[in-house]
This record gives sequence, C-alpha cells and structure tokens, in this order.
Amino acid sequence: MDIDKLKSEFLLRYGDSSENVRIFFSPGRVNLIGEHTDYNGGFVLPFAIKTGTFLLIRKNPENIFRLTSVNIDVCASVPVNEVSTKSPVPWINYPLGVINEFDLLNLELSGYDLLFYGDIPNGAGLSSSASIEMVTAFALNSLSRSGLEIMQLVNMCRHAENDFVGMNCGIMDQMAVALSKKDHALFINCTSISYQTIPFFTGRYHIIIANTNKPRELISSAYNQRVIECNEAVSAICNHRKINNLSELNFNEFEKLSTLIKNEISKKRARHVITENQRVKNAVKCIESNDLLTLGKLMTESHISLKTDYEVTGFELDTLVEESLKIPGVAGSRMTGAGFGGCTISLVHKDSADHFMTEVYRQYENKTGLKPEFYQAIPSDGVHEIIVNSQ
Ligand code: GLA
Repeated sequence: MDIDKLKSEFLLRYGDSSENVRIFFSPGRVNLIGEHTDYNGGFVLPFAIKTGTFLLIRKNPENIFRLTSVNIDVCASVPVNEVSTKSPVPWINYPLGVINEFDLLNLELSGYDLLFYGDIPNGAGLSSSASIEMVTAFALNSLSRSGLEIMQLVNMCRHAENDFVGMNCGIMDQMAVALSKKDHALFINCTSISYQTIPFFTGRYHIIIANTNKPRELISSAYNQRVIECNEAVSAICNHRKINNLSELNFNEFEKLSTLIKNEISKKRARHVITENQRVKNAVKCIESNDLLTLGKLMTESHISLKTDYEVTGFELDTLVEESLKIPGVAGSRMTGAGFGGCTISLVHKDSADHFMTEVYRQYENKTGLKPEFYQAIPSDGVHEIIVNSQ
C-alpha cells in the first residue's frame, strides 16, 4: 500500500485535512543466530528487514487516543486518563501498552489519532509486535517532544510487551527494530545491553525467509515456560556458584556444574543457551572474514540445538529446514524467532534461489499440507520518520 492510499485511509477514518498527519515506519526483524539467549543475558545477531509497520498519526484536541488498523478490523477510543486499563482486544494492547509507558513516566500525552498498517505476516516470528510497539513509541516521543533517548524507547517497548501484553520476551526484538542499520547485522550483548553494527554483505548468497504458515497458538505460555526452565537452571547452579544468568558460563564451566541441575529439561535448556552463545560469537567472526559457508553450518547447528535441547521447533519448522538443506547451494538453514511455527531463514546461493523456492515449496506442501511463503531478507534501517515531499 502506498503512502497516498494510507493518507486517504487516515482521512476517511479521522476526517479533516492531511496537513498535520505525520508518518513513521518501524521494520520487523529476522534473527540470523542467537535464539532464546536474550533473556538469558546472551548474544544475539538480528537485523531489520524491509517489511514493517507504518503509523500515521495526528494530535487531536479531545484528550482521546483513537487507534485503528488497516489490516484488521479494530478500532478503539481510549481517554487519556484510562490508558492503564488493558483492552479486551489483544491487538490494541501493543500500542496501548506503549502509551501507558509514557504515562508511567509521568510524560503526559494529549489525545492522538493513530492509523496502523503492517506488511509483516502476522505470527510469523518476524517481530510484528515489536514493530508496532516501536513505531508507536518513536512517533509519540517525536510528536510530544518528550526527548527520550532511543534506548529508553526500547526499554519502554519491552516493558509494554512484558507487563501489558504478558509475554516475558527479552530485549532483542525491540533493539533490532530500533537500532538496525542498512547492510549491517546488529550484534547485541544482552547482559551489558551494548551493541555493535557489523557490516553484512551476503555477496553471492541470499538470505531467504520461508514462512511455515502454521497457525501459532499459545506461544506466549510455551515461551514463558522456557524462561522459567532457564531460571531453574540458574537457581540450581547458584547453590554452588553465584551467577546472574546462564550466559556467565562457558561450555567447560557448564559441563563441570551441570550435575547440579537435577531437572533434565532445565539442563537441556541451559546447554542450548551456552552453546548458542558460542555460535553467535563464531558467526560474527564468519561475517567479518566473509566465510559464509561456515556461517551456514553454524545456523544449521543452531537449529539442531533448538530442536533437540530447547524443543521449540516442531514438525513444520523441522520439515522446512530438512528440505532446505537438501538443495545444493544451501549453506545453512534454521528457524528464526521464538519458534513453535513462524519462519526459517536459509543462506542460499543466488544461482540456486529459484530452484530452492520451487522445490522446498513442493516438498513442504507434500509433507505438511501447508503452503509456505518466501521472502528475501535484506538488512535494513531501524525505526524512522517518513518525510513526504508535498509538491
Ligand atoms: C521472541 C522474543 C525475543 C527472543 C526470541 C527468541 O522473538 O520476543 O525476545 O527471545 O523470541 O530468540
């Protein structure tokens, strides 16, 4: 949908002239490697993608937030003094949770009209939720001249997701959609919350996202359960050695201490986190030395660990990865995001890309009865305002 159409939609719903309407965009993200490590203080390596969420926004004189979306049939009017009350409509809680964060900081906002449009497939593990949150935070910060730093917005969006939406996610998605840079991957240390942008040119390879199109249900409860299991592993180790999170241990230390974790499930979860952290560090070296074949191997190893130790893959994701790896020219393949459905990413030689999509489509449909979708992932910029020249 182009900007003019979105403006017409805005005027249709909120009336008046388009003069003071401003337009913002936040991308979604894929994670190259480093899965389920962020809430364990580990390393992650995501980048923003081209698709994301557009927000058209204008101040209104009525002390009411009006929220609508072009994609789904939602429409809410929330008085400014009632933003802390959760909406019965789940989607509304993403922007409302962010508005509530401004309120919690005593940054009083007057009323605004907001219209959202997203082109990230829903529930695909490409961070459509962080994208909605971040575009809301960035736009409100700008229009209200609150002067918040980008990392404050990141934290507000994460709190909104943890406390308002109820998903105990880490900080990766919000950082990725805020701080990513075109042609770079974002290497984040989730203990120090520091980051580095790493130039990332895939040369003769494409990064192809494949969507399982498996409907995801109850993902937040399974996700929150993984958070609990990791915390149990930390507590068990703490009986012998004080650690704040699993990422303080290297693999050798973990091996020595792992007998302390009596619960076999927690032990497997911990092993994934610790091996995955090492894979992320190796992946950064591969990118820096342009060794995409080894990067691909690390991606595949990551998937295996997520399948066997973290158990967040499932038949559809595993089938996509297995079929992808059969295609000559594929350097590696793995699930990306929280898992339980959603997408894979594969590193595919350009010359094999067409064959890859045709063949994986065929085999995946045969085995699962679902039709996958493919998109190319291109490292893109984080959240920003779209300035439209109006002549
Ligand atoms: C979701 C969460 C992230 C991260 C990933 C798994 O996307 O929002 O914080 O934990 O899952 O790596």
